[in-house]
Amino acid sequence: MDLERILFTQGFGSRRQCRALVADGRVSIAGLPCTNAATDIASDALPSFEFQVDGTEWRYREKAYLALNKPPGYECSREPQHHLSVFHLIPPQLTERGVQCVGRLDQDTTGLLLLSDDGAFVHAFTSPKRKVPKVYLATTRHPLDDAQLSALRNGVFLHGESQPVAAVSAEQRDERQLELSVLEGKYHQVKRMVAAAGNRVENLHRERIGGLALSDELAEGQWRWLDDADLAMLRQG
Ligand code: URA
Repeated sequence: MDLERILFTQGFGSRRQCRALVADGRVSIAGLPCTNAATDIASDALPSFEFQVDGTEWRYREKAYLALNKPPGYECSREPQHHLSVFHLIPPQLTERGVQCVGRLDQDTTGLLLLSDDGAFVHAFTSPKRKVPKVYLATTRHPLDDAQLSALRNGVFLHGESQPVAAVSAEQRDERQLELSVLEGKYHQVKRMVAAAGNRVENLHRERIGGLALSDELAEGQWRWLDDADLAMLRQG
């Protein structure tokens, strides 16, 4: 694949813009400026191909998979209505190449959010058929009690749903701290379930999706690439 096409696939703009980026000497390979946009990179070298644009290091990725530690006050939308967008927290090249949120978190919910431009992956992880446990830590307005925990485990009726929705697990961590694992990704699901059980969510944080937990190393507002090992963890229940 030639350098112009590589830059294009990685979100550096139109073919013309990518050509200009190279011609202007802003792209380097192994630290040396490369001004020939037709420079060919063999397909077997592509998965580990590294390049620099304006001094920033990039690696070619056929598909982009990211984890973001979402702060409060950000909407999972490209065109946010009332708040900033999570897309302001990732490099514009990733938005340009079509990265989208894998499911949504409410603007006031914090924690693990996945983003990808792999349509099949996004579809698989947001499909109601794909039962991936998502673990949330909810701070409740009122102290939790056994009746509420049982209701969450046994299933609660949510407005507009014909079947009760049950948590995979509901454990009390503190007087007003609830760890809840749910399989579905229904609109405001955790807040609605906790309300249906007779309490109210004041703060909500997603800690884990499948076997992939948010690590302490990823500060709020930061993102990182997911590698094959991370993707395998995601698929573990
Ligand atoms: N459930 C909610 O109520 N809100 C979220 O952001 C995620 C799950």
